[in-house]
Amino acid sequence: MSPSAQLVIVANRLPVDRVDEPDGSRRWRRSPGGLVTALDPVMRANDGVWIGWAGGTETDLEPFEDDGLSLVPVPLSSEEIEGFYEGMSNATLWPIYHDVVAKPEFHREWWDAYVTVNRRFAEKVVNVAEEGATVWVHDYQLQLVPQMLRELRPDLRIGFYLHIPFPPAELFAQLPWRRQLLEGLLGADLVGFQMSGGAANFVRLVRQRVGHKTHRDLVYLPDGRTVRAAAFPISIDAAGFEELARSEGVEERATEIREALGEPRKVFLGIDRLDYTKGIIARLRAFSELIQDGELDVDEAVFVQVATPSRERVEQYRILRDEIDRLVGRINGDLGKIGQPAISYLHSSYPREEMAALYRAADVMVVTPYRDGMNLVAKEYVACRYDDAGALVLSEFAGASDELRQAWLVNPYDINGMKTALLDAYRAPAKETSRRMRAMRKTVLRKDVTAWARAFLSGLAEVPPDHGKQVKPPRAS
Ligand code: F6P
Repeated sequence: MSPSAQLVIVANRLPVDRVDEPDGSRRWRRSPGGLVTALDPVMRANDGVWIGWAGGTETDLEPFEDDGLSLVPVPLSSEEIEGFYEGMSNATLWPIYHDVVAKPEFHREWWDAYVTVNRRFAEKVVNVAEEGATVWVHDYQLQLVPQMLRELRPDLRIGFYLHIPFPPAELFAQLPWRRQLLEGLLGADLVGFQMSGGAANFVRLVRQRVGHKTHRDLVYLPDGRTVRAAAFPISIDAAGFEELARSEGVEERATEIREALGEPRKVFLGIDRLDYTKGIIARLRAFSELIQDGELDVDEAVFVQVATPSRERVEQYRILRDEIDRLVGRINGDLGKIGQPAISYLHSSYPREEMAALYRAADVMVVTPYRDGMNLVAKEYVACRYDDAGALVLSEFAGASDELRQAWLVNPYDINGMKTALLDAYRAPAKETSRRMRAMRKTVLRKDVTAWARAFLSGLAEVPPDHGKQVKPPRAS
């Protein structure tokens, strides 16, 4: 039987990963993401329910509880995983929403799968949400859910949050289903974005492509409802990361990591999902050129690059993996010495403890995406540097650069500029790095993920029961 709730979180994935034990039994392990940490207390306080895909193809998973959280799985068939998840979500929308860093593909059958799966999510919500409940829908995989829900359940208060960038009108316009996507989002009362630029892009597109009246952050719909579009920059569990970083186990592990690397003078670090938006190749190239130019020496500096496996059945991701493998092999072959590779490359995912130890071990953190909604790795690094040491090299095109102004900001398309920034960060006197780090730490610790969730949910709570029907557009002057 489905549980019922006054608060329903809807995301593509459930906040747990399945672990298959050697004896054939199954258990669930909480995913390490910040979203779960942020929503956990809100979920508990409101007896909330989380609806999402469990990651496999089982069709018979019943709603279940894990550590007091009520979870409702949405099944996906292998064809749906291909069309909805790998296809429409990650080979069409993902590249379009990230500045077309890779070429998007458009397939009508992928769109059909996207509609079918979004409807399935909406129907699950209908079964679970109590009268007048608050429903918070997350991310680009589920942009049609708000409108589908609105039609099925006009009593609900619906919020939508986009975790990735919302593209400029000129790129969004390429989508054959642009109008349906905009109308899908307009089913929400509040649409949240990482940056104010994304919110402005959305409002402009709604005016241009759907023809609704808009004023500042409000859209006025023909049925009288108003929809607000605003920025809510996401963050991390900063105090949690700092506490972890301060733990003895993590400090010991950080020392071990530096020893294993041969006690270099400086450690550069990159940690990313293996994704073409992250700029991994360009950053490794910049680092290797510094060695070739004689500015850095493998006896003194090493680059640790962690690339977490991701979306491995999507072609662009496979191609990228091969490219990185080849590049790392070439750089190490050309520039490394026995026991001293220029790049220490790890294709693996690690628990939070190991990530914290890596952050503690790194002198220069390098985060150079071509486009990124926020980039939480940059904020995690800052949270772990309670000693005010460590330099952050950060792309201007990561949302985080808006808040972390004291980082060494770079344009990842400019390899020479990146080389200069890497070197400046490497050579910066301790006084300068700690001045910058102190300022960034203030920002990250003040605006954590709990503040983010609270801000969004209070925005949603302000929506009047008539969904803003009393609010009238200002008269044209
Ligand atoms: O940043 C967007 C996002 O969908 C996150 O929500 C998620 O943690 C990450 O990308 C990985 O996505 P996937 O669910 O495709 O593995």
